[in-house]
Amino acid sequence: MEFRTYQPDLLIDGKRMQDHLRCAVSWWHTFGTTGSDPFGMPTMKYPWDSITDPLSRGLAKMDAGFEFISRLRIPFYCFHDVDLVDEGDTPAETDRRMRRLVDHAKQWQKETGIQLLWGTANLTGHPRYMNGAATNPDLSVVARAALQVQRTLDATIELGGANYVFWGGREGYLSLHNTDMRREKDHYARFLEMARDYGRKNGFTGPFLIEPKPMEPSKHQYDYDAETVVGFLRHYGLDSDFKLNIEVNHATLAGHSFTHDLQVAADAGLFCSIDANRGDEQNGWDTDQFPINILELTEAMLVILQAGGFTTGGINFDAKVRRNSIDPDDRIIAHISGMDAFAKALLAASSILKESPYLSARAARYASFDSETGRRFEQGGMTLPELAAMAASTPEPVLASGRQEWFESVITRHI
Ligand code: XUL
Ligand code: CO
Repeated sequence: MEFRTYQPDLLIDGKRMQDHLRCAVSWWHTFGTTGSDPFGMPTMKYPWDSITDPLSRGLAKMDAGFEFISRLRIPFYCFHDVDLVDEGDTPAETDRRMRRLVDHAKQWQKETGIQLLWGTANLTGHPRYMNGAATNPDLSVVARAALQVQRTLDATIELGGANYVFWGGREGYLSLHNTDMRREKDHYARFLEMARDYGRKNGFTGPFLIEPKPMEPSKHQYDYDAETVVGFLRHYGLDSDFKLNIEVNHATLAGHSFTHDLQVAADAGLFCSIDANRGDEQNGWDTDQFPINILELTEAMLVILQAGGFTTGGINFDAKVRRNSIDPDDRIIAHISGMDAFAKALLAASSILKESPYLSARAARYASFDSETGRRFEQGGMTLPELAAMAASTPEPVLASGRQEWFESVITRHI
């Protein structure tokens, strides 16, 4: 029950480890996971379950939550609106409960120094969203989603949240027969625009984040993967306010590696934050297990460090202990082990970049484009006949090794 590698104050490249990693606890998994699955009932109980009044239950859960986070000395947390307190029977009652919980969180933040990495609205759980939230064919349901996003944005702003997240689990379809996909995507963009305008008008200066996921719960989700989201944001002109929150297990569910989606986001200048977990290679589902794959994390930290590291974003442990891990200790150990794994990955990635020729070896493969003609090609100053003429006047190119095994050996050597 102690960190072995994670040292918050250790300086790496002039920055504290804590500031490199910006770790966060997710309210939903850590204080809400019940252990139920489609085949079995809950296996986990919380002390606050027995409190019948929803407001008092939310407050007790929050006290336990901040105790957990501060004992582990984790600097951030993330929440969905409904993780904090159950919805009331009327919007006014829900507003009243949320305001009370936000006041309580504000007090706890002040006392402990813990900060909000991001807030988000749960637009998937309630039956009203069974046909979608922002992309629902019924405008009155879209209005409910707007009310929830407005309320959660207000809470995020009030709590000084560094980012605001959209994850579109129901923004997609179950069947194309009953779906006007073009219209739904337009509606999604309109909805995001409205949220952006509301946030900006009310003092939210941080980035809005889209968290790509290809499927589950919908058969197909419109924010499929990083490449799809980058295209979507650019198409609708949302790319100056929206960035990406990349989740390990979502990338693998899309048939990519975590590193692939990170690199896509970074190359587009839209990388911001990550949801840390891991899938199970035996089945590929979104199992949200705690991250321990140090090779996968080192490769990820390499991309993140090259992209300049986290600014407003961080590492949200969107991960849950297994159904049969029912002791409170299990989730403490899970966070410690996950943070130690990231600490090892950070140290390895930093040393690869500083002490090995990894970057220069990659750049060397493109050296021909650094020549005068190469630059002319890259800058669009060359025609196809000119380029073809170059081939006619030079000998057959000499084959050059891609040296993949050497690159891989650099990584294993530094872990
Ligand atoms: C679902 C998921 C969500 C988002 C927030 O797969 O990752 O928990 O992170 O809504
Ligand atoms: Co997530």
